[in-house]
Amino acid sequence: MTNLEKKLRVWDLPTRIFHWSLVAMVGIGLTTGFISPEWWMGIHIWAGYGTVLLVVFRLVWGIFGSEFSRIETFVFTPHEIIAHIRELIFLRPRHYIGHNPAGAMMIFALLFFLIAITVSGLLVLGGEENQGPLAGAANYRIGDMASEIHLVLAFILLTLIGLHIIGVFIETRLTSENLVKSMIDGYKIIPQGQSSPQPRPSRPMAAATFLLAFTILAGSVLWAFSTMPPSGIIQMSKNSDYTTECGDCHEVYHPSLLPKASWAKLMAGLEDHFGEDASIDQDLSVNIASYLEIYAAEAWDTEASNRFSRVSLKAPYQISATPYWQRKHNDIGDDVFRRAGVGGEAHCSSCHRDASIGHFDDQKIKIPVN
Ligand code: HEC
Ligand code: HEC
Repeated sequence: MTNLEKKLRVWDLPTRIFHWSLVAMVGIGLTTGFISPEWWMGIHIWAGYGTVLLVVFRLVWGIFGSEFSRIETFVFTPHEIIAHIRELIFLRPRHYIGHNPAGAMMIFALLFFLIAITVSGLLVLGGEENQGPLAGAANYRIGDMASEIHLVLAFILLTLIGLHIIGVFIETRLTSENLVKSMIDGYKIIPQGQSSPQPRPSRPMAAATFLLAFTILAGSVLWAFSTMPPSGIIQMSKNSDYTTECGDCHEVYHPSLLPKASWAKLMAGLEDHFGEDASIDQDLSVNIASYLEIYAAEAWDTEASNRFSRVSLKAPYQISATPYWQRKHNDIGDDVFRRAGVGGEAHCSSCHRDASIGHFDDQKIKIPVN
């Protein structure tokens, strides 16, 4: 720094904390979304909520933060954006005290996709998993569609992050101004001759009031949504005949795990049931068959009821033979299923602690170690 240059605090503390917390939160979200085992889904969901909070904070801080954090200071005209890109191409970008036009566009794109990805995530959570505030508002079909969109958005986000990092690297090289360092300590060096405006200070009280009001409002809306009963889950009475007769040799399977036709076939062939004679009294059998028919997959709209409706033609009433089951358990070795604590493929509840209620939440998976 020469005598004629000045050091200016450009990024205020909240903006810097926001930036690096967002890096951590989105990093956790992408890692748990793409590569971690399903039972880490709880962390993924919390990273999503954390991201929403950070983005909301940033938007509010974009109104009440100090000079260079304010959104109005980095809204550029198309003319300015084109000029900046031209300067970049000729490798001579001019110096901006706050965000430059390319950086600003990236910020808007990132904020937009972060909002889109969290909204689609909430729809997946509500529609497919029947969890979260939208469990009642989103049915399985919506959740299924949202999950494809969620994935595409995640790839777009990854691309944007890549471009953002490349952009920071290029601008740092061309302007010999360490952008990463300035996002850590907040300071930028103002070159000689460049006028530095009198930066406006932040208004933390106004920001806090606004955030509080917004949180209460958004919280009440989500709360109102979450009071809706989860869609596709019906009230089911217990049937003690079913529990005692069919729970004799294995766990009692939730009726939603097979379609009506499969239960009917199973009940019609109990004398040769997977190599065993499971035949029972006529009365009991009629009672159980009608119970299973009423509460079969068709009556529900859960992930399991939708997925297990496509049965295997060779074994129409074996849940563990359905194509979906096979696909989902493909990576689990035979030795794992043979562990004493597991007891075979058919023992869903050894690994799925919520199997008995027809849920298979990712967070409830726990494979016994021996
Ligand atoms: C005599 C013992 C016995 C009784 C009683 C019995 N089962 Fe089974 N069942 C088995 C065996 C053995 C298997 C093969 C899977 C295994 O290894 O546990 C099986 C498998 C199943 C499966 C397929 C599980 C999978 O792998 O997807 C279903 C569904 C099922 N039984 C339903 C019933 C119902 C409904 C009843 C009551 C009407 C019943 N069972 C009563 C012994 C029994
Ligand atoms: C050895 C433990 C084990 C047993 C036994 C087991 N599962 Fe799973 N199951 C898993 C694991 C692990 C996953 C996650 C696999 C993945 O997608 O990476 C899973 C995934 C699933 C999913 C998908 C959940 C989701 O939201 O993606 C369903 C549904 C499911 N299992 C149903 C069953 C049923 C029904 C049975 C019994 C017939 C069963 N499982 C038996 C371990 C087990």
